[in-house]
Amino acid sequence: MRSVSAQDVPLLGDAPLADVIAAMTTEEKARLLVGMGMDADLPGVPGMAPEDAAIPERVPGAAGRTHAVERLGIPSLTLADGPAGVRIAPTRPGDDRTYHATAFPVATLLASSWDLPLVREVGAAFGREARAYGVDVLLAPGMNLHRNPLGGRNFEYYAEDPLLSGRMAAAFVAGVQSEGVGAAVKHFAANNQEFNRMKLNTVVSRRALRELYLRGFEIAVREGAPWTVMSAYNLLNGVHTSESEALLTTILRDEWGFDGFVMTDWFAGSDPVAQVRAGNDVLMPGNPGQTRALVDAVEAGTLSAAALDTAVARVLRVATRTLTFAGHAYDDAPDLAAGARLARRAAAEGMVLLENDGDALPLARGAQLALFGNASYELIVGGTGSGDVNEAYAVPLDAGLADAGYAVDEVLRASYRAYLDAEAAKRPPAPNPLFPSPPIPERAVAADRVADAARTADAAVVVLGRNSGEFADRDRDDFVLSDVERTLLRDVSVAFRAAGRPVVVVLNVAGVVEVADWRDAADAILVAWQPGQEGGHAMADVLSGAVNPSGKLPMTFPVTYADVPSAETFPGRVLPARAGDGGADAFGVPSEVVYDEGLYVGYRYYDAFDVAPAYPFGYGLSYTDFAVEGLTLSADTFGDDLTATVEVTNTGDVAGREVVQLYLAAPEGRLATPAQELRAFAKTDRLAPGASQTLRLTLDARDLASYDPDRAAWVAAAGRYVVRVGTSSRDVRQQAAFTLPRERVVARTHDVLAPAAPVDERAPDRR
Ligand code: BGC
Repeated sequence: MRSVSAQDVPLLGDAPLADVIAAMTTEEKARLLVGMGMDADLPGVPGMAPEDAAIPERVPGAAGRTHAVERLGIPSLTLADGPAGVRIAPTRPGDDRTYHATAFPVATLLASSWDLPLVREVGAAFGREARAYGVDVLLAPGMNLHRNPLGGRNFEYYAEDPLLSGRMAAAFVAGVQSEGVGAAVKHFAANNQEFNRMKLNTVVSRRALRELYLRGFEIAVREGAPWTVMSAYNLLNGVHTSESEALLTTILRDEWGFDGFVMTDWFAGSDPVAQVRAGNDVLMPGNPGQTRALVDAVEAGTLSAAALDTAVARVLRVATRTLTFAGHAYDDAPDLAAGARLARRAAAEGMVLLENDGDALPLARGAQLALFGNASYELIVGGTGSGDVNEAYAVPLDAGLADAGYAVDEVLRASYRAYLDAEAAKRPPAPNPLFPSPPIPERAVAADRVADAARTADAAVVVLGRNSGEFADRDRDDFVLSDVERTLLRDVSVAFRAAGRPVVVVLNVAGVVEVADWRDAADAILVAWQPGQEGGHAMADVLSGAVNPSGKLPMTFPVTYADVPSAETFPGRVLPARAGDGGADAFGVPSEVVYDEGLYVGYRYYDAFDVAPAYPFGYGLSYTDFAVEGLTLSADTFGDDLTATVEVTNTGDVAGREVVQLYLAAPEGRLATPAQELRAFAKTDRLAPGASQTLRLTLDARDLASYDPDRAAWVAAAGRYVVRVGTSSRDVRQQAAFTLPRERVVARTHDVLAPAAPVDERAPDRR
């Protein structure tokens, strides 16, 4: 019942925003910016205010929520992870139904599809599930670069290249937001390792920042217009990203035009006042101490009322766009069957075929298969931590193949099942779902068992598994095969090849593993990544040829870990303890990582430093062949933009899709540039044998430019630019050139975010 005076209260959505803000007390404003907290129950982690803990969660298991100001019609918003599906609790106390969400393939797999419409479609499916569960903002996509193959959260991220990463993120954001749910582009920025993640200072040059670590975010923000951005845990050149005005205001807003709100990563940073001042509007998950600090700072005049109001306005503007604000009546009934169908289709689109000697694949329908490796029977659906999803079921490869009409060696299956069940029974339950138990180790298979299998099966399939997740990076042992895996693969290979049967290796992995020293033992190698809950079906779709693989690597596979440009500097080093902040705690210890490879990350390094990769960026085989012909450029001289046109023809026997990649080699100018950089890509439709399709790839002036830190500007050097069009970074099929007659300053920026001292970057000798 409204009192007479309450009718004069300006309500959000009815009254002008300025009136709503003017009607808020400082305390209400501060509470709006500070989330309702999280019952983390970790030492050193602040808990919730009792009055907030008493308010039931609308969506149990969602990562965070903001405070409502009911008298002004301001709703509490619900924020939920994550990059592989909507992460909420699968069950609720006193309720006997379940609240599952679809586990989609991880971001790395989606990027491997190079299929922007598909990724948009997947984003929309996330949006629909979030909507069905009453979630306002989805805490995805994650889009940090794969700077090093051991990054613990690489699976949540797309690629080693900022263009691929940025385009993927923009497509995903557009999909999510098309359903009325906000996206959160994260973790902004230079958060490329987990090591001491809350106290790690990333030291990186302005040029590498602009061209690599910020570039993907810039594309995602400009093209995808996300409602929110999540700042990162790390410090960037000495300042916490969540406290960096240069990053969150000067670059993100003033330069890129971002108009939503920025939230912290959970418990990130140390100074709430500095965060709000910098343009980090929302502090998550929030605690009452932060609210107090903001109110006190306003009263003391150390935080201006205007800065507080600016942040409040940003949150309110996003709030008015949400489903909760619109009074959306969600029904907790997402279409999980549709989610599963899309998860399966997307997973198959992003698997990458690395080898296929003697046409070992596709496997003849109805064949008898011997499956080796734990992950054949227990799918590694996705990664761990906040990127995990509570899915209703997962389809392992043995079940997927059985459903596709293959006969699976039952003796082998029974023995793996017995082993996996016995090992699982021995383990104590994981203390916290965010810290799951490590995987069950691979076991040896007796030689006579392998020999039996080789006698009866038409082919061997060896699945090698790797998982990873938040809080830790992978280590070098995880990168290579264990002795047991090596022996298993060798024994299977020897026995099956002696019997004239092929050996297929499937990599069900969170990230890159070493392949060069064992690949001779395999006739075919398929990278299935972490394919989501329908993984077994999707793998079977590719292995059977129901889907012709068309995925391409979004990162380089090096020959050995030592070849990785950041092998020595990753993940960083612990700094000598300084008074006051030394000592291990829940947030890690002060550490530093120096990105001394500068621009030379991934293929930019392998190309410029002449290091042969095991498989190059952009690589992936098909069951058919394609011709890429007739490259033409719309002009010989660059004007405002330029279009490259090529024709792709399926010259093989089965239908398939090809990804065409455009790499640009810039002329020698004031700045040394990588030998070539991905500037555009496109994927064909499914082409029948003999069919052709014309693809158009457009470059704009920014695609020609490098970032010149001395001029704080994007500058395109004058001269001859070579356009290389191919089907991987090392399989260039067509080449053409155009000129830019005069140097062009394409965009001026602010000169911000310089490291305290110049980074001593390694440079190739090529120029
Ligand atoms: C992660 C974020 C996640 C948040 C909420 C943090 O630990 O870094 O990616 O969105 O938790 O679960």
